[in-house]
Amino acid sequence: MRKGILTIAAVGLLATGGLTACGDDSSPESGSSAKTPKIGVILPDSKSSARWETADRRFLEEAFKSAGVQYDIQNAQNDKTAFQTIADQMITSGVTALMIVNLDSGTGKAVLDKAKSQGVATIDYDRLTLGGSAQYYVSFDNETVGKLQGEGLSKCLTDKGVKNPVVAYLNGSPTDNNATLFKAGYDSVLKPKFDSKEYTKGPEDSVPAWDNAQATTIFEQQLTKANGKIDGVLAANDGLGNAAISILKKNNLNGKVPVTGQDASTEGLQNILAGDQCMTVYKAVREEAKAASDLAIALAKGERKDTGQTVKDPEGGRDVPSVLLTPKAIYKDNIKDVIADGYVTKEEVCTAAFAKACADAGIS
Ligand code: BGC
Repeated sequence: MRKGILTIAAVGLLATGGLTACGDDSSPESGSSAKTPKIGVILPDSKSSARWETADRRFLEEAFKSAGVQYDIQNAQNDKTAFQTIADQMITSGVTALMIVNLDSGTGKAVLDKAKSQGVATIDYDRLTLGGSAQYYVSFDNETVGKLQGEGLSKCLTDKGVKNPVVAYLNGSPTDNNATLFKAGYDSVLKPKFDSKEYTKGPEDSVPAWDNAQATTIFEQQLTKANGKIDGVLAANDGLGNAAISILKKNNLNGKVPVTGQDASTEGLQNILAGDQCMTVYKAVREEAKAASDLAIALAKGERKDTGQTVKDPEGGRDVPSVLLTPKAIYKDNIKDVIADGYVTKEEVCTAAFAKACADAGIS
């Protein structure tokens, strides 16, 4: 790396959401010496999770607008060729910074390397591109996300008084580094229980591209394979959780078998209110978008910011300057916090069918 390497001392910046500028103009970030910021963002798809269109796009727009910078947010709709085409178009159109949520590390790396070679600053948004070259990585503490899921499932199984539960796994996409981190997190809670025979490990599958429809088929096969004996489902996000719930419903098992999730989607929150989902993990995407936007703008101005933290890229071996925000476990009794945070509205969640459950959960 260039001289003036970023310090890695944790200085508690994240607690306040603040970032400090090093303001070292003598060695600006590649090709971004005091340009007028124009930020390109490539979102991955709109089906693996509702968040990309309903939260990330909204909060990124909010951050860019309040900073008064130009931006272009596009969605690759899970198409790797389109992902590269969008990146090329954005680079040609003169973006000063490119923020990507990769579809896999291979195509992500190609895009990042190309941007770098053209003097465009780069940020890995939410997903780390393994072996990549992004100048920053902005995400949540994803191992903690998984840990909250493992603890949540365990709590719900205890609350239901299930003894020696058989636990099935619906992992995220095998090409998403986050899915690896989520699994490391929930394994840290559940594997000791499998090892001690307190729990029994049931079927486990990774869901390609987090495809919710495929997850339905996969979970149906898991249930068949387990002869109907699945007592808890560690589903890596709300979409996969909903897929499992749809099959549990077909078998009159919904509400009896706790299912986890992630993203605090409207559907996930409603599944919790209905008693079909045990918990979800809320990630304050507004903060994620704001942190990424601040960094992208600084890069355009030729500034470097000390994020106070790095993440080691296990493939490239690089210490990537990072912002990692804190996730929060959500159960029926604190769904109101997600609404209070402006992530979803009461009107979206508390439709007629959920009015009573909402009132019971103290959502007013
Ligand atoms: C994100 C999750 C999301 C999943 C599927 C992950 O990389 O961190 O929030 O549910 O991708 O889109």
